[in-house]
Amino acid sequence: MLLLHPFLTQYFTFVDREENKKYWALILGASSGFGGATAMKLAEDGYNVIGVHLDRQATMPNVEKIIDHIKSQQREAIFYNVNAADQFKRVEIAKELSEKLNGQPVIKVLMHSLAFGTLKLFIPETNEQTITHAQMEMTLDVMAHSLVYWVQEIHLNNLLADKGRIFAMTSSGGHTAIPYYGAVSAAKAALESHVRQLAIELGQRSISVNAIMAGVTDTPALRKIPGNQSMIEIAKQKNPHGRLTTPEDVAKVISLLCRDGGEWISGGLIHADGGEDIVSFVGKSK
Ligand SMILES: NC(=O)c1ccc[n+]([C@@H]2O[C@H](COP(=O)([O-])OP(=O)(O)OC[C@H]3O[C@@H](n4cnc5c(N)ncnc54)[C@H](O)[C@@H]3O)[C@@H](O)[C@H]2O)c1
Repeated sequence: MLLLHPFLTQYFTFVDREENKKYWALILGASSGFGGATAMKLAEDGYNVIGVHLDRQATMPNVEKIIDHIKSQQREAIFYNVNAADQFKRVEIAKELSEKLNGQPVIKVLMHSLAFGTLKLFIPETNEQTITHAQMEMTLDVMAHSLVYWVQEIHLNNLLADKGRIFAMTSSGGHTAIPYYGAVSAAKAALESHVRQLAIELGQRSISVNAIMAGVTDTPALRKIPGNQSMIEIAKQKNPHGRLTTPEDVAKVISLLCRDGGEWISGGLIHADGGEDIVSFVGKSK
């Protein structure tokens, strides 16, 4: 087995970081959870970061913390506090970025990590409100279709770099059913389909596109799902590592896939969950 001397490993990390400095990572949902952790990790890897997020005054300190971390790596940060599903904002941001980045195709990483969906039952038994047509459409638009529209806009403005990487955050809801999660489940299934379609349409430019399936992770989005405490307990029991996934676990997987050689992994659904999803039996396995 070939073992690299620690000095050589450090040398290759340094070379990667220097090469990445001319590129940008565009992160949709950059202020929290997976998007926030990935923004900081990719800045450590040398990328400048464009962040899109939707925050009120109360959560702005976390946004500042992420921007400070990016800047502490001597990297640039451009953050937009807007609704990523707003078509006019998207067009405006892409135009502004085109000017700021001198019309160069320097966005090498695009990550979709938006959590904004309606968590209601389809057929409630009590007098709970049922999900409406508008709520279903909104959930699919933000959590799935906006991936396609952002990639289109960045591509149209000639900002997407060849050999780039696109990531979209999915969950086990894409292939299983979870109470109150019906609309988000549908969005995850659509998102995974969009990933496959983008992978074949962008393959000619050597851009790889993948869905990253994280395990249950304690973030503000998870806390909004009714029954999240039992989801956390079950996940801890199921996960072969005996703990929950963290945003940093996922950021490290994305960083790994951005390294040289990662380009040949495309069109896939990558488990970044420590093996949680494959476990169906909760109890002693050995
Ligand atoms: N937390 C989990 O257990 C888990 C597991 C698997 C997949 N996921 C998925 O990962 C993604 C990110 O989730 P998270 O847990 O990191 O959530 P989070 O709440 O920590 O972060 C969500 C981010 O999305 C931004 N956002 C939400 N709506 C927006 C909008 N309309 N416009 C612009 N920005 C918007 C927020 O500002 C924030 O930056 C989601 O797609 C979620 O479904 C979550």
